[in-house]
Amino acid sequence: MSKVLVTGGAGYIGSHTLVDLLEKGFEVVSVDNYCNSDGSAYQQIQDITGKEVKNYVVDLCDQNATENIFKENPEISSVIHFAALKAVGESVADPILYFRNNLTSLVNVLDCCRKYRVHKFIFSSSCTVYGNALELPVTESTPEQEAESPYGRTKQFGEKMIQDCIKGTDIKAISLRYFNPAGAHPSSKMGESPLNKPQNLVPVITGVAKGSIEKLTVFGDDYDTRDGSCLRDYIHVMDLANAHSLAVSRLDQDLAMVHFEVFNLGTGEGVTVLEAIEAFESSTGQKLNYVIGDRRPGDVIAVYSDLSKAKNELQWTTKYSIHDIMKTAWEWEKIR
Ligand code: UD1
Repeated sequence: MSKVLVTGGAGYIGSHTLVDLLEKGFEVVSVDNYCNSDGSAYQQIQDITGKEVKNYVVDLCDQNATENIFKENPEISSVIHFAALKAVGESVADPILYFRNNLTSLVNVLDCCRKYRVHKFIFSSSCTVYGNALELPVTESTPEQEAESPYGRTKQFGEKMIQDCIKGTDIKAISLRYFNPAGAHPSSKMGESPLNKPQNLVPVITGVAKGSIEKLTVFGDDYDTRDGSCLRDYIHVMDLANAHSLAVSRLDQDLAMVHFEVFNLGTGEGVTVLEAIEAFESSTGQKLNYVIGDRRPGDVIAVYSDLSKAKNELQWTTKYSIHDIMKTAWEWEKIR
């Protein structure tokens, strides 16, 4: 079993992935600068798994501090790199922040992988790399379009940077392109707890139902979709977490076909914003107040995945439906 360095381990997907890795017997170490989390995830992980996670509070843009983690943990054999900023709207308003943070940290982590001979690298990517995709469902070979936001651009650049940096080395990399991660751990002991104001649909929905957010605005109902609202592929965070453990195992067993592999991680089902609201209402019994507003800059119209590659090659299957997503997210929101 390898020791896995999880960057961004206190964050939403990072913390759920730590749970899955620990439950599968992996040794882990984490790093997070708490820029969008407060570290409470580590106690939650311990409550669920009974295991304590060693965390470094380090900003990965600090090259020396990043290098110290690798120096102090020579048994690290793989990295899952989650640490990044991820708000589409914020990235449109402040592109420099996104380029500086997301790309500098990636350069530093890749540099350490090369220097410290860490040969297995998993990258937290996004369906945003496809832009307004020319075909649906999106497969891994669907041509990439212009990124709709600087955030999306950091994922496109990130994938290219990884390919260049691993060329001529023994490093193998897997890029996991998430569709829309949502939901919470089924124990209700852990879920999404952003420090910043929630921007993503599901935490906004649960926040409105709880009363901590005033109202839900549906960003546009005049798109060319079945009900006019944008269509996405919502994937439960524990299904995503499991894909990361499978990706580490794939690299551990040297099963990767090429040095840089890409997998789509979604359910294969498109759900519109209005359908998501309806799924929340029917699975929780809560009525939601919402208004129709303007389109949000940077939004793509419709995107959902073809997941056959992840199914066939990673042996990944999804367990949770949109209703499970809404139920687990709501259970978590009520107690947090
Ligand atoms: C985008 C990225 C995704 C990334 C995520 C990180 C794309 C296609 N997807 O997701 O890969 O992981 O950012 O933040 O670029 N909505 C409302 N009202 C709200 C909030 C959202 O109507 O208050 C709508 C949005 O317009 C969108 C859908 O809900 O149609 C989902 O939005 P959101 O949860 O923010 O995720 P994406 O922007 O799709």
